[in-house]
Formats: sequence, structure tokens, C-alpha cells
Amino acid sequence: MPTIGIDAIALAVPEGYLDLADLAAARGVPAGKFVEGLGVQRMSVARQHEDPVALAATAARRLFATSGVDPSTIGLCVVGTETAVDHSKPVAAYLHRLLGLPQECRVFEAKHACFGGTAGLLSALDWIAAGSARGRKALIICTDIARYGLSTPGEPTQGAGAVALLVSDNPRLLALEVGSTGSYAQDVNDFWRPLYSKEAVVDGHHSVQCYLDALAGAYKSWQNASAASGITGELARRCYHVPYGKMAKKAHRHVMQIEGKTEAEADASYTAEVATSLRLPSQVGNIYTGSLYLALASLLEAEAAELEGKRIGLFSYGSGCCAEFFAGTVPAGAGAFADKLEMAAPLKDRRKYTFAEYEQIRLRDDKADQRPVNGDAHGLPAGSVAFVGVDADRRVYIA
Ligand code: HMG
Repeated sequence: MPTIGIDAIALAVPEGYLDLADLAAARGVPAGKFVEGLGVQRMSVARQHEDPVALAATAARRLFATSGVDPSTIGLCVVGTETAVDHSKPVAAYLHRLLGLPQECRVFEAKHACFGGTAGLLSALDWIAAGSARGRKALIICTDIARYGLSTPGEPTQGAGAVALLVSDNPRLLALEVGSTGSYAQDVNDFWRPLYSKEAVVDGHHSVQCYLDALAGAYKSWQNASAASGITGELARRCYHVPYGKMAKKAHRHVMQIEGKTEAEADASYTAEVATSLRLPSQVGNIYTGSLYLALASLLEAEAAELEGKRIGLFSYGSGCCAEFFAGTVPAGAGAFADKLEMAAPLKDRRKYTFAEYEQIRLRDDKADQRPVNGDAHGLPAGSVAFVGVDADRRVYIA
């Protein structure tokens, strides 16, 4: 039986970011509250041409370029997003043309807050395990722009970016334990975005508790599923959904408490098992569907070689809510392949926006979906895709 899992990962982030110390100064709060208190140093800020389709296409093009896999091998493309650009046409349909995917291909969008990308990933694993892939691969793309109101408590937990995952048999980065995942769901009002609004509505402290409750439920379900499948072995690392770094720390403490560990033991294992996965998220902010996979990229970018043969746990949470805990093993050769992928490269050479630029971008962005095509996205980095406006209600992209 071949293994199935994540073969390659690529990221895309907007070209600019806001330093959280600058946001804190503008909002009159100590920088420590955002940087240490929330665990975020920078948040990506998307400009008008960097919409969720453009970010997704840029990440996927990079995935094909770095992994050496050809778009013609894709038989399933699922986009997980909660900030889609249309109520009907899925982001995946735009990508079909922008990426040159084959016509014999299933494309759709999955929405469940930050869980949408995981829903796509788990469907892809089942699609391959069931034999529907017939030798083809799946492309799962998580793409979002996280926006809260200006001057609200959620403002320092914004971000933007996309993570593209190639899913196949005999994966080169992470072989997942298909069929032994742990699920949890409940109807809660912790975070949502009404159809009329571009900004999320959130009951912040309640959302933290909902996340922790879902983690406890999914973890227990995963332990039961693993035991039933006869899967054993310690987890060497754990990646959590990262709305902000401190949330992942709270999550790990919660799991350690469930496992009967002391606070000191929990803090020590956080440093060893979780901290590395938070490096890239602390530079990008919350990217909703992609946040867990940004954490995984952060971990594999730094430690894939030493993790070969070791098991990693993953926790995905989507408000509303649905959650899943699952695990996989890093295969031999992953270290050398991760080096080749250069997953963190898109974060280099970004531009630092001033607070005034950030505010101006946010205010202008409200009209982005109605502006006529004006082609003002020249000077794009090589390989990027840009949204350039609307022509007779049709969104136009250039590559
Ligand atoms: P807040 O209420 O303004 O902050 O907003 P706070 O008062 O809770 O302070 C935050 C932390 O900073 C605290 O640490 C303070 O002690 C500390 P904690 O007690 O939590 O360990 N602090 C300081 N530290 C150092 N120096 C200082 C200082 N001052 C305070 N000077 C809140 C926080 C998270 C509520 C807000 O940012 C928010 O509403 N964010 C959005 C919601 C969110 O991210 N929820 C996470 C769980 S739900 C989820 O993950 C799903 C989601 O991704 C959406 C989806 O599924 O699609 C959001």
C-alpha cells in the first residue's frame, strides 16, 4: 500500500507588511502586548492587486516551479478560503486557467472558516485512497486575507497569504495517517463574517475558549482513532492553527494538561516541539485557511532533515466550528527536498509599510472589487499573478 500525503508546499505573501510595533504605537498600546502578548511581529498587508485569487495562483505557480511537478498531472484542485471573490464562481475556476490545469479535472472551493483548506486536504487523501486519482495528483490551495475592523482588538491578528499543497502518493514531505483522523464540530458563534461585510465579526475571548474546547475534542477523537487502527508512536513535533503565536502556545499547554503534564513540562515541550513552527507565522500574521500549513512549512523549512522518520501532529481549527487532529511521518529524503523547495523565500525582500500607508491601503481596498481595469500592477515580482480590475462584472487577472 503506497503512502499518501503532502508532496510539496509553496507560499505566497503580499509584497508588504506592517510592523506590529508601529501598529501598537499608532493605537497607543505597549508594543509588548502585540509582540510578546500575542506573539506576532509583522502582519502581511494585501494591496488591491493582491486578492485571494492572485495570491493562490502565485503560490501554486511557485509550487510547480520548485517541485518540478507539471500542472498536467493534477486531477483535483480544491481551494480553501473564507475570503472568496464571488458568491458563486469558485477561486478554483479562476485558477484552472491561470495555472493551465487539464480539462479532465475536478475544481471547487471549500468554505468552513479556517478549516476550509483542511477539508480540501482530507478530501484529497480520500480521493487518492479510494482509487479515484488514477495516478494523478491533487492541488490544495489555502488563500485568505484576514481583516478585522480598524482599531478593534482583532486588528493586530490580521494577515494575508496563500499556501499551496501538492498531495500525492509516495509524498516527499509528509506521509499522513489516512483514515485515523480525529474530528470535532459544534455550532458556536465565536467568529463569522456576514454576507454584507468584508470584515470579520468576532467574540475574541470566547473564540479562544471555542478553539481550546475543539482541540480537546479532536485530540481525544484522534487518540481513539489511532488506537483503533493500531497506530502507535510519540509525536516529535506538533503544529497548530495559528491565528497568532500565543494561541498555539495556549493550545499546546491545553494538550499537555490533558496528558497530565505539569506546567514546567508543558513549557519545555513547547520550546522543543512547537516554537519552530511559529517562526513564519510571526512574520505574516493570521492567514486563516493557510495558517496551519504556514506553521508546517516553518517547521519543515528548519528541521525536515532531523525529523526524517519522525511523527508530527497537526491541529486544524475553523470557527463556527469544525476541527481535526491528524498526524503523519516525515519520509527519508525530506530534508534535501525541503531545501530545494525554499519555502520561506517569498518572505525575503518584503517592503515595510508605514502605519499611514497601511491605513491608506485599507481604506482604498474597500472599493477594489468595483474598480475598472487599469493595469496598475506593473513591476510585479517574477511569477506573480495580479488582479487588475473588473470589466463588465468580470474580474481580470494578469500573470
Ligand atoms: P485583547 O483582548 O485586546 O488582548 O485581544 P488581551 O487583553 O487578551 O491580551 C492579549 C495577551 O497579551 C494576553 O496574554 C495579555 O496578558 C498580554 P494571555 O493572558 O492571553 O497569555 N499582554 C501583554 N504582554 C506583554 N506586554 C504587555 C501586555 N499587555 C497585554 N504590555 C484577542 C486578544 C485574541 C481577543 C483579539 O486579538 C482577537 O479578538 N483576535 C481575533 C480572534 C482570534 O484570533 N481568536 C483566536 C481563536 S479562534 C480562531 O483561531 C479562528 C480564526 O482564525 C478564524 C477562522 O477560523 O476563520 C480567528
